[in-house]
Amino acid sequence: MMDLDSAARDILAGNDRGGYTVPNGRVYPFQWNWDSAFVALGFDRFDRDRAWTEIETLFSAQWADGFLPHIVFWQDDPGYFPGPSVWGTGKQPVTSGITQPPVAASVVRRLWENAVEAGEGDAYRGRLEALFPKLAAWHFWFRDHRDPDRNGVVVAMHPWETGRDNSPEWDAPGEAIDVSQVGDYVRRDTSHLDAKMRPTKLEYDRYLALVQYGRAQGWDHARISAGNPFRVADVGMSMILLRANRDLAALAEMLGREAEAAELRALVARAEAGIGWLWDGDKACWCSRDLITGRSSGFITSASFLSFYAGLKHSERDAAMLGHFDRIGRMVSYLMPSLDPGDPGFQMIRYWRGPVWAVVNYMIGTGLAEAGEADRAERVRSDTRALIARNGFYEAFSPVDGTGSGGDDFSWTAAIWLAWN
Ligand code: DGY
Repeated sequence: MMDLDSAARDILAGNDRGGYTVPNGRVYPFQWNWDSAFVALGFDRFDRDRAWTEIETLFSAQWADGFLPHIVFWQDDPGYFPGPSVWGTGKQPVTSGITQPPVAASVVRRLWENAVEAGEGDAYRGRLEALFPKLAAWHFWFRDHRDPDRNGVVVAMHPWETGRDNSPEWDAPGEAIDVSQVGDYVRRDTSHLDAKMRPTKLEYDRYLALVQYGRAQGWDHARISAGNPFRVADVGMSMILLRANRDLAALAEMLGREAEAAELRALVARAEAGIGWLWDGDKACWCSRDLITGRSSGFITSASFLSFYAGLKHSERDAAMLGHFDRIGRMVSYLMPSLDPGDPGFQMIRYWRGPVWAVVNYMIGTGLAEAGEADRAERVRSDTRALIARNGFYEAFSPVDGTGSGGDDFSWTAAIWLAWN
């Protein structure tokens, strides 16, 4: 295990570009939002200062209205498409125009508590005080631009915004996206990786059509959220934001920022009351739902199991989710597949249509442990460690045989190895 610990530290050091970490040098050569948050958890195990710097660098690219982009293009790189000129946000530093799952506040709470436990609270309090308003501004941006029905459910404007790019949850809503004007382009992801592990051409056409739409709106998020052809309530982002609002409220209370604490508690209460809209009674599962048609996706994905991480407590729904957990656990060697293996669309190495992702497992396991489900939490943790120990620090893994999928030497996989030991 020592060797794997040092291999994980070497991956983070090798992907460190000075103040920020790339997810993988070839496939993803910039700073990604939720990747950086998880990466900070890994750095925190051996270099606390560097962990905080990762988050501070990310927030140095925050827009004036609180929006935090999903990519910061600190330097250009021809190895990735779509690069900064395609996004055309006109920001400095150059960024994309969509956001990503808001895990940062939950990570910052963990960093802070680790610092306090190590007797370094005094040294880090100033950095926490500086980060807090930025985190709060981002959460209030979600309230203002991604929660049109004021029910605490997060509506994604792009599959990339969910972080789970090609999940089948986006297939039916994606049919409303007109791809006829997308034009020619050259993908770079499939020159680095086997196309069988990546989204399809149709999915990429949709991704680009949405980028073109946002750009045509001047990346004005009020206009985008009013007219975007893709508006899907994402169960993953909704659960993650609910958890993050709880964590940020706790930090606000600790810092004596009563006005923000009250607003964040109100957002938690709103989500607890409203998130039932994502419960699919037919599937007896938490599912994403198309805001435009009102239809549930009906897909059971790894994000469905984030209800425990969100801190939702509902005995019947929890029992149904644990039933799905046990059923899926009997079907695969390694939990948690990104799509129910009983689904006809399950593909064991295609990105978010089957593979296991260490960061999602970390959130699922954390939530299950907090809900008192110690054995199930341990199954997720030990499966994650076995996947990495047997196969390497891949982007994702087949739940069937553990085959690595996507990029290798992956920063967030290394970080979870270090943080979740
Ligand atoms: C990609 O390019 O595959 C990313 O997931 C987009 O954020």
